[in-house]
Amino acid sequence: MSKILVTGGTGYIGSHTAIELIKSGHEVLIIDDLSNSKIEALDIIEKLSGKRPVFEQFKLRDSAKVDDFFEEYDIDAVIHFAASKAVGESVAFPMKYYKNNLVSLANVVDAMSVNNVKNIVFSSSATVYGQPDKLPATEETPILPAESPYGNTKQIGEEMLLDQTKASDTFTAIALRYFNPIGAHESGENGELPMGTPNNLMPFITQTAIGLRDELKIFGDDYNTPDGTAVRDYIHVVDIAKAHIKAVERMIDGKTESQFEVFNLGTGKGFSVKQVIESFEKTTGVNLNYSIAPRRIGDVEQIYASTEKANEILGWRADKTLDEMTLSAWKWEKHLKENK
Ligand code: UFG
Repeated sequence: MSKILVTGGTGYIGSHTAIELIKSGHEVLIIDDLSNSKIEALDIIEKLSGKRPVFEQFKLRDSAKVDDFFEEYDIDAVIHFAASKAVGESVAFPMKYYKNNLVSLANVVDAMSVNNVKNIVFSSSATVYGQPDKLPATEETPILPAESPYGNTKQIGEEMLLDQTKASDTFTAIALRYFNPIGAHESGENGELPMGTPNNLMPFITQTAIGLRDELKIFGDDYNTPDGTAVRDYIHVVDIAKAHIKAVERMIDGKTESQFEVFNLGTGKGFSVKQVIESFEKTTGVNLNYSIAPRRIGDVEQIYASTEKANEILGWRADKTLDEMTLSAWKWEKHLKENK
């Protein structure tokens, strides 16, 4: 059993990861400022995993608090989710993103080095690839200039960690580049909780289907894809969570091949917006109200992952289908309505 600090552990991916970590026998400690999540996530984690994590609420931008936390607890590894993640907001308020995503990361890494904590898993994003010339995107696909301050914080975050590995013989980091995490826990009791109008496709679909939104707008149907709508690699959030357990255990067990490793987390399959809608309608029996709208600025046409490296080196593979993703997201949306 290891003691794992999960920053952002009450959020969407963080809470699912906390559950899987506890189920794998690890002890979980969470720091979250609850700026984009609810304290009730702790009850859900406890219910679904059988154990309540240690929890402290503060901003990682507060370096004194971060230092105190690391002094108090004897942490073996960090999984760092805590970050702001709305692309559009990052364009309007770039400094919020640099402070929340990068000052926080610097504080965590500093506290790790002072307290001799060697291992960190970092939430990165497929956004670092922009629109690649060749698909699928491998970990060697060139990193393109970021389209948004949010994307830039993911690129710089990776570089900060790489620099720290060069400054220390023992510091080890694994960056996981997520494609499009969707879906919810199979119980229907844990899932994404967007504050306000969702930016992302899946919560917009479920909120429209349940009557919270009038209609879904499909952003563009004139892309160079089979049905004209944009293609992404959607991956079940519990599959993503399980990859973090693999990554953190790989570091703790000393199995990493270099001090800085990168893995794509996707399924290797691309689905269009229309295919996601079709899957949702088929699995749930609910007809979705939607219309075609102009393309959204900053969207790429299509991207999906090469999963070879994660499969072979990390020993992890996503095994849930698109239908399982859309159905579980619906189960969660209905659970939210019933428990309002
Ligand atoms: N989409 C719609 N209507 C909506 C919402 C989304 O048609 O109401 C489309 C988008 O245009 C896109 C697809 O659904 O083609 C997926 O959109 P999401 O917003 O769910 O996901 P993105 O691929 O845009 O976002 C992901 C990550 C971000 C990351 C971004 C970089 O969620 O963290 O890729 O482009 F920054």
